[in-house]
Amino acid sequence: MQLIDGKATAAAIKEQIAQEVAQIVAAGGKQPHLVAVLVGHDGGSETYVKNKVLACEKCGFKSTLIRFEEDVTEEELLQCVDKLNKDADVDGFIVQLPLPKHIDEQKITMAIDYRKDVDGFHPVNVGRMSLGMPSFISATPLGILTLLQHYQIETSGKKCVILGRSNIVGKPMAQLMMQKQYGDATVTVCHSHSKNLKEECREADIIIAAIGKPDFVTADMVKPGAVVIDVGTTRVPDVTRKSGFRLNGDVKFDEVAEKCSFITPVPGGVGPMTICSLMKNTLAAGKKEIYD
Ligand code: GUN
Repeated sequence: MQLIDGKATAAAIKEQIAQEVAQIVAAGGKQPHLVAVLVGHDGGSETYVKNKVLACEKCGFKSTLIRFEEDVTEEELLQCVDKLNKDADVDGFIVQLPLPKHIDEQKITMAIDYRKDVDGFHPVNVGRMSLGMPSFISATPLGILTLLQHYQIETSGKKCVILGRSNIVGKPMAQLMMQKQYGDATVTVCHSHSKNLKEECREADIIIAAIGKPDFVTADMVKPGAVVIDVGTTRVPDVTRKSGFRLNGDVKFDEVAEKCSFITPVPGGVGPMTICSLMKNTLAAGKKEIYD
């Protein structure tokens, strides 16, 4: 079994990005600028956004964090989005999800100018991605594709089972793994109501687990030699940690690792690649690579 080191892969890519940014700036070009909008104080979101800001520093980007309290109105948030859309200094921005219940996430996402939507969540980007057109691709699926490429894992013609059908991971991942120019695989999507989920997994050459259930994928569900990608990051209580919790993947790592050819750890697998992909998208936005 080979461990897929997302942390090292992401660090190497961020270094490449930093070199390119240095060249752009040296040639008199504009430093890419990412803005993150954070509402409230959810622990997970705070950590993600902090890591995104740190990654910007590593890449030589300008970054701005805009904070709102939990009681911000939808109107105030829409006004902020409108301002960022119009601000020529801002190349890309994200509104960290989830948002409080009184705010319609879809409405906020739709209000973001798709040319600055480095999360790739806007319907224009989702649609263009599905059609195989140039677009911002959402960060987690893009990070997984990059890892598979980096480790030269063959996907063409393979049977890929995706667990989970979220808009952020499962659905775009299925699209990308299916498309000829990316995964070129035979894709099956399973979810909480799939009757034959275990059987599907047992036949898979590649399993991408994004179901949000700790230790869900067990050794009896994995074909010997399969590739296992773990997207899960559930916080479970752990008294031995200073924070009081640890991140637990969707895969029962110890027993599955013995059986498969490649596996991503949690943490240090998909997570760092997600942030690295956001950096890639921000650089593309700064360079006006996808949209003028
Ligand atoms: N919440 C969990 N993942 C993401 C992400 O990739 N982008 C945003 N904006 N919110 C998230």
